[in-house]
Amino acid sequence: MGRQNTGEISASIMCADFIRMEECLNKIKATGIEMLHMDIMDGIFVPNITFGACVIDQIRKNTSLPFDYHLMVDQPENKLDYFEIKKGDYVSVHCESTRHLQRTLTCIREMGAHPGVAVNPATPLCCVYDVLEDVDFILIMTVNPGFAGQRLIPHTLEKISAARRYLNEQGYSDIKIEVDGNVSFENAKKMKSAGAQIFVAGTSGIFVQGMDLYEAAKKLRQCISEPEVESRHVV
Ligand code: DX5
Ligand code: ZN
Repeated sequence: MGRQNTGEISASIMCADFIRMEECLNKIKATGIEMLHMDIMDGIFVPNITFGACVIDQIRKNTSLPFDYHLMVDQPENKLDYFEIKKGDYVSVHCESTRHLQRTLTCIREMGAHPGVAVNPATPLCCVYDVLEDVDFILIMTVNPGFAGQRLIPHTLEKISAARRYLNEQGYSDIKIEVDGNVSFENAKKMKSAGAQIFVAGTSGIFVQGMDLYEAAKKLRQCISEPEVESRHVV
């Protein structure tokens, strides 16, 4: 049977080899991975700091893939112009990080990017219900944000299913669900079956120890490309 309901892969750049970034970007491009996930952390919203605009600008010069900015920063509304946001990029902000979520999402839309709202594992899904008109995607965190290499929080799988069901019932079937955190081959199948469409691939998905990036990306792609009907039987 041919591929149906194929998911998209967003390569988590914080997990890449920064010394060999050019080679890494070329490999990512060659695998057909759809976008580059940029984890921006400020040490306040999450207990870690990653990279900022000067690193991102250099990466931008070496790739034509769209960027998937995941802003794990306090008050993202004041920081959107730190980054070069292009038409067609994806930009998510956490509902826990701003008092002005709707306004921030509107600004992202005005910049020509796809606005997304991110939710931490402990945040109830209802926190995004009032901004569905303003987003193209919901980012469901399947680990607590801040670090690579964590284990999936099992309850988040039900959250993906609940989100997909709610979106469809409310007439928002076009809104995509992105999943971030421990997107391993096995977990990706479950996430796909629950209704996820964009898969953030970090140390569990494509930057897997002892595995070539091409091989890992191919395997991950298979896990998220099973026909929906078949994958429902698997779980
Ligand atoms: C968490 C990050 C990670 C990251 C790493 O804040 O956003 O989820 O991409 O992926 P894994 O969990 O596979 O190391
Ligand atoms: Zn992320």
